[in-house]
Amino acid sequence: MDQANKATSDELRAALGEFGPIEDTAERLRYEQDWSGDHRGYARIVLRPRSTAEVQAIVRRCMAAGLPVVPQGGHTGLVGGGTPTEAGNEVVVSLERMNRIRQVDPLGFSMVAEAGCILESVQGAAAAEDLYFPLSLSAQGSCQIGGNIATNAGGINVLRYGMTRDLVLGLEVVLPDGRLFDGLSGLRKDNTGYDLKQLFIGAEGTLGIVTAASLKLYPRPSQVQTALLGLPSVEHAVALFSRARRDMGDLLSAFELMPRRCVELALEVMPGLREPFDPVPTYILLEASTGGLIDLRPILERFLEGAMEQEHIIDGAIAANTTQARDFWRIREGLIEGQVRRGRHLRTDVSIPISAIAAFIASAEQALRAHEPDCLPLSYGHIGDGNIHLNVLPPLGLPAGQLPDFLHACEEIILTEVDRLGGSISAEHGIGIKKRAAFLARKPQVHLELMKRIKDALDPAGWMSPGRVLE
Ligand code: FAD
Ligand code: LAC
Ligand code: ZN
Repeated sequence: MDQANKATSDELRAALGEFGPIEDTAERLRYEQDWSGDHRGYARIVLRPRSTAEVQAIVRRCMAAGLPVVPQGGHTGLVGGGTPTEAGNEVVVSLERMNRIRQVDPLGFSMVAEAGCILESVQGAAAAEDLYFPLSLSAQGSCQIGGNIATNAGGINVLRYGMTRDLVLGLEVVLPDGRLFDGLSGLRKDNTGYDLKQLFIGAEGTLGIVTAASLKLYPRPSQVQTALLGLPSVEHAVALFSRARRDMGDLLSAFELMPRRCVELALEVMPGLREPFDPVPTYILLEASTGGLIDLRPILERFLEGAMEQEHIIDGAIAANTTQARDFWRIREGLIEGQVRRGRHLRTDVSIPISAIAAFIASAEQALRAHEPDCLPLSYGHIGDGNIHLNVLPPLGLPAGQLPDFLHACEEIILTEVDRLGGSISAEHGIGIKKRAAFLARKPQVHLELMKRIKDALDPAGWMSPGRVLE
């Protein structure tokens, strides 16, 4: 390994130069820094293969030379998994040029896409056949399906369609020894032995490089109803969710919580966006959707009438058209941009039992304010999945030198509440490097031992995404 790391740039280029290396230093920054800008590292070399065979050749050559390899998608993972470390010794393998939709099967409701396809283009290829790929998240214009699979991404439609894991029928993966795991079956049912593809979903690149996936498609919802609802409190939001599930069953496809402060942040950054009703403490962005012969609007209206009678809802608006529905979703997207504009802050993606969400938000926010009265806690997210993003903006004017300690202290406060309520430190974004210490400190020993054995079995040298998830 030491020898390989001492190889000159010329030697590296001779060995790997056919795989689209990025030479320009400024251009390389894109591959050495993530979407948030919080993670900045240095790559030994950045490669951009065009085919599965090229990925296999890269992995074989790197492993033979003892060069650590890090697969990279759209740089939107927020935990430092796909960004090279500061050590500067890792080969970044960007999948961006493997972006072909290999096949869409309208009769089988499935598609085969290469790992580097941007999520939005996967959705588009399904829509072109009047079908629907339900994975949906604010980063969909940048993240890649390979990255979604590697992180088992969630997003806004999980309560109806499940996580990415539930949308994968088969995988093609280049293993750390360069061999191909050829499991691109589109079969819905296959009970022959261990379901090995599951190992690679959510493995954050530590067990191999996903090069293609067979994905589950659904009928395109021809009716979509979107409502922005104003509520008195988070308690009411949780009660409303229960009622929505009972009243609308599987027609409910999204149920997103936003506090007033998040709506204000969105309004700051989304030009021309107007609020449909006067400010309220808590907002729910709800979507119901269906195809077929069901008449959706009256069902939504009956549900809302009942919820108003129960006084869960103070005010609300059903989108009159797709433009207004789009505007409601721009509030959800804008709250992320609004936080980014305020500079570096704490991001979390914790999981809490749904029944404990209100207690969690109240106690964690109170503890954060007790620690620093001028911080701004923001609790929003996928309430139907028990997945809350409790982010914290530091007090204005906090000296940059104090920021790391402040963020760490806030994270500890939040995770202590998560532990107390039996939650998980990550519902969506994974462990990467950033959450590794918190993960290792909490995961039971037997779980960790099994994970280490799986890692050792597939990657005995430990050169595939070293230091991500496990030590
Ligand atoms: P990257 O960031 O490039 O990589 C992420 C990890 O996957 C790394 O460990 C990397 O090594 C590995 N990896 C990437 N490609 C491959 C591959 N082909 N084979 C093997 N390993 C690979 N996440 C959610 O779950 N739900 C959300 O609602 C959500 N919303 C977001 C909104 C915004 C604005 C942002 C910035 C992020 C959001 N995320 C969300 C997080 C992120 O978008 C997802 O984790 C996404 O799945 C990462 O995809 P990517 O292509 O950007 O992967
Ligand atoms: C979201 C990302 C941050 O849900 O997961 O907005
Ligand atoms: Zn999320």
